[in-house]
Amino acid sequence: MRKKIVAGNWKMNTTLPTGLLLVSEILKNTDIPKDVILIIAPPFTHLSEVSKQLKNTSIKLAAQNCSQFDQGAYTGEVAASILKSVGTEYVILGHSERRAYFAETDLVINSKIKIALANGLKPIVCCGEVLEEREKNIHFDVVAKQLKGMFEGITPDQFKDIIIAYEPVWAIGTGKTASPAQAQEIHAFIRINIEKAYGTELAHSTPILYGGSCKPSNAKELFANADVDGGLIGGASLVAKDFIDIAKSF
Ligand code: 13P
Repeated sequence: MRKKIVAGNWKMNTTLPTGLLLVSEILKNTDIPKDVILIIAPPFTHLSEVSKQLKNTSIKLAAQNCSQFDQGAYTGEVAASILKSVGTEYVILGHSERRAYFAETDLVINSKIKIALANGLKPIVCCGEVLEEREKNIHFDVVAKQLKGMFEGITPDQFKDIIIAYEPVWAIGTGKTASPAQAQEIHAFIRINIEKAYGTELAHSTPILYGGSCKPSNAKELFANADVDGGLIGGASLVAKDFIDIAKSF
């Protein structure tokens, strides 16, 4: 059985007080299915405090990014080792917003994955095509290329800590969602790519999450697909009830 995961990517939202309030609202819900792993990814500044809030709970903590460099003279960057030191367990890497606004390439993301793994963080690695690529019907090639570039040099032993998130860029924050069939089709394709690179066992055990306007009203039909193992949730993760309702959608 693969892990079922619902991860909330808060992006650049909440102040520290409103973020802590959101966590306490999420924690009030005790009826989340035991087999669903909930992860929250608040801004860097909140991690240390949120980590204390999550102590002795089943909810896991993620960062939204990390530096591709080890510690040192990199003004404004946050190293994987720093994230680990405040209780962070996962890190979202390769998000399309990092690619679009901060010029992150597959090569940079590859360095980040390596440094995250070396510091004991589990990467949630994003892939996905933009609208133009979907319309040209080249989305499979785009995703295959991203995966190849991002996982270059990652060994099977390292890959067992990887979670993949398929996030079609045209569905992020737009209210447009991939149809369940579109999601299943490309998730199955991603799993075949993992199988080719890492073998059947890792292909079967790697969670592949869907992200892009996932909300309580569509999570059930998305998660019902054989190769959709949960969601990476943006906007809806900022509302405790919506986030919890998504987690109950399996
Ligand atoms: P939305 O759920 O707001 O579309 O964002 C998805 C996302 O980018 C999660 O990383």
